[in-house]
Amino acid sequence: MNLKPETLQRIDEVITHYPVKRSATLPLLHLIQEDVGFISDETIEWIAAKLELQPINVYEVVTFYPMFRRKPIGRRHIKVCRTLSCALSGGYKTCETFKEQFGVELGETSADGEVTVEFVECLASCGTAPVVLIDDDLHEKVDSAKAREIAAKIKAEAAKNAPVAR
Ligand code: FES
Repeated sequence: MNLKPETLQRIDEVITHYPVKRSATLPLLHLIQEDVGFISDETIEWIAAKLELQPINVYEVVTFYPMFRRKPIGRRHIKVCRTLSCALSGGYKTCETFKEQFGVELGETSADGEVTVEFVECLASCGTAPVVLIDDDLHEKVDSAKAREIAAKIKAEAAKNAPVAR
């Protein structure tokens, strides 16, 4: 498994915080998802070996918590806030627009692997609702029209980066 050196370092450090190794399952899953974007079977086996558990023990945790993704995310990750201020300001409509624009369902990745659209909880910018985090960039006051503009930009960038057919 290809983890960043800093993730490996944090994993080793986190394990020392728990008298019983298996208690580190949840934090390890979070650290790895943060690094590689999803939890593969290989990750489950790796964590099990690391914490001296059976893979089924880790698998049960992964399937219990809805925040763990079992499939890779797209190259662009669109996270629409659905907490109160954003919900009241049209966050759900914004999310629908992104889904339509990329032809994806919530939590799914577009067929070309380019975009994943998800709901998230408060992004701490409630005064500029509805708010959307795309990769590491916060976009404020994203109504449907702005969502369409952003989607067009993402599509144009993807087309520019697509390999040229010969
Ligand atoms: S409610 Fe959306 S940023 Fe706080």
